[in-house]
Amino acid sequence: MTTVIELRTAGAEKLRQDILDCTACALRKECRGPVPWRGDLPPLPSSTNRKRVLFVGEAPGRNEDLTKRVFSGEAGILLADCLEHIDVDQSEVLIGNTTNCRPRDNRDPTPEEAAFCANLHLEPHLEHFRPDIVVGIGAIAARYFLPWTRTLDRVERVPYVLDRPWGSFIFFALLHPAAALHEQRQTNRVWQGFQALRRLLDNGIPDPTPWPPDYREV
Ligand code: URA
Repeated sequence: MTTVIELRTAGAEKLRQDILDCTACALRKECRGPVPWRGDLPPLPSSTNRKRVLFVGEAPGRNEDLTKRVFSGEAGILLADCLEHIDVDQSEVLIGNTTNCRPRDNRDPTPEEAAFCANLHLEPHLEHFRPDIVVGIGAIAARYFLPWTRTLDRVERVPYVLDRPWGSFIFFALLHPAAALHEQRQTNRVWQGFQALRRLLDNGIPDPTPWPPDYREV
């Protein structure tokens, strides 16, 4: 008899294969190939208080396009540092992107490209894994989940409860760690974001002072 764990693993493998096989939009022609998600979440129903967390970045970069591993470049090293700093084990979270193919020359995917890809791949991942918290890393993810916002600033570190037919989750947007690579003065803002995530994981409630963020003082 097939067990729940076997079904779950088969479902996750199909999601991965669907990304690898995808040729549904023109972005596929701009890159070497789509980059599948990595990681896993503790099985449901959770017997502990640990939150099931899914990190959603923007799109693969040059390194990810070569290695086929999400967040394997410089931004990934910073992300790993941030997660270690707040005591989140990378093997117990799921990490993916809003868009699974690298747009040519590292341009940002358009909102239409992001929504098209997310409907095909991100939404089925959400339904399969049913996370408690989705952390949007960067503005592309924030704009996909909160389409009424144009910039990250207004929504950064503010927990939103979002509904889907299968259930609800908290969406929490953070500044992308890559921002600190481009502009050193953003490092503090990146760290503060991950510390706010730690508080959200610990307390399960909104940060008492999510806005205005204190990075403005840096
Ligand atoms: N930046 C992202 O948003 N995703 C990756 O996979 C790598 C860098």
